[in-house]
Amino acid sequence: MRKIAIINQKGGVGKTTTAISLAAGLSRNNKKVLLIDLDPQGNIATSIIQNTQMGIYEYLFEGAQIEQCVTNAGKNFDVMTSNETLTKAEHALFQDKNPPTVIKKKLDSIKGYDYIIIDCAPSLGILNLNALLYSKEAIIPVSTDPLGLDALKKVSSIISSINENYFHDLAISKIVPTMYDKRNKICKESLSAMQNAYYTKITSPIRVCSKTKEAPKYKKSIYAYSNSSRGAADYWQLTQQVLQDEAHYAEQEEVVLKSPVIAE
Ligand SMILES: Nc1ncnc2c1ncn2[C@@H]1O[C@H](COP(=O)(O)OP(=O)(O)OP(=O)(O)O)[C@@H](O)[C@H]1O
Ligand SMILES: [Mg+2]
Repeated sequence: MRKIAIINQKGGVGKTTTAISLAAGLSRNNKKVLLIDLDPQGNIATSIIQNTQMGIYEYLFEGAQIEQCVTNAGKNFDVMTSNETLTKAEHALFQDKNPPTVIKKKLDSIKGYDYIIIDCAPSLGILNLNALLYSKEAIIPVSTDPLGLDALKKVSSIISSINENYFHDLAISKIVPTMYDKRNKICKESLSAMQNAYYTKITSPIRVCSKTKEAPKYKKSIYAYSNSSRGAADYWQLTQQVLQDEAHYAEQEEVVLKSPVIAE
């Protein structure tokens, strides 16, 4: 199982779009995926789900069973949605004696998926700290502009200090340059600066694409909405790049062996 947080404290850089497109791409590569929305904005439900009842809040804080809180979004593709009630969670977490691991413990009991992908809110709050302590990998979407580069430096430094303070080993597995427009000089310069600073982690860029922007209106992934678009091509390529790391990052699930029956 791979546990991936899609994170950047900067807003509007393509986290949710990347989370949905990667999850959908992996599921189309026969990987069983659970996409969790940990952002009270609830954009995943708005973007791909027709009707939801229970989601992440009920699973984490109201004792609901996982089966009641998961909505199917396609073959191999389940989603745990969120909504504004998740803001109550921050308060609940602060009351707990050991806040950073409350969510981790609940999420640890989810089994049976090849990938768990968490779409994080644009913040540095306790929900994101929990998400990062649960995850083994961070994928960071970064807008290809000077502010994007600055945010990337900040999020890398935050991940380093979380690893140090909590004895954790969260790896930045991919940095995804988003909103890329090759006609724009600042996009080209920012991409090149990112490649120079983080060359082993940088994926191929995700180009600006009107179909990518439209897809949520129809509650479809980019592949279902416009498989021939630039957005579908770029996110398919990203999916392949993530799949290539599987041997390195996948954790083996514990197999409980039954005692052998010995014949008398
Ligand atoms: N490649 C793209 N081309 C065009 N529009 C895009 C692209 N990627 C994302 N968008 C649009 O940009 C906006 C912000 O994207 P998204 O919601 O994925 O960002 P986010 O980082 O999750 O935002 P937030 O920080 O608020 O959670 C959305 O309207 C989305 O449709
Ligand atoms: Mg988002």
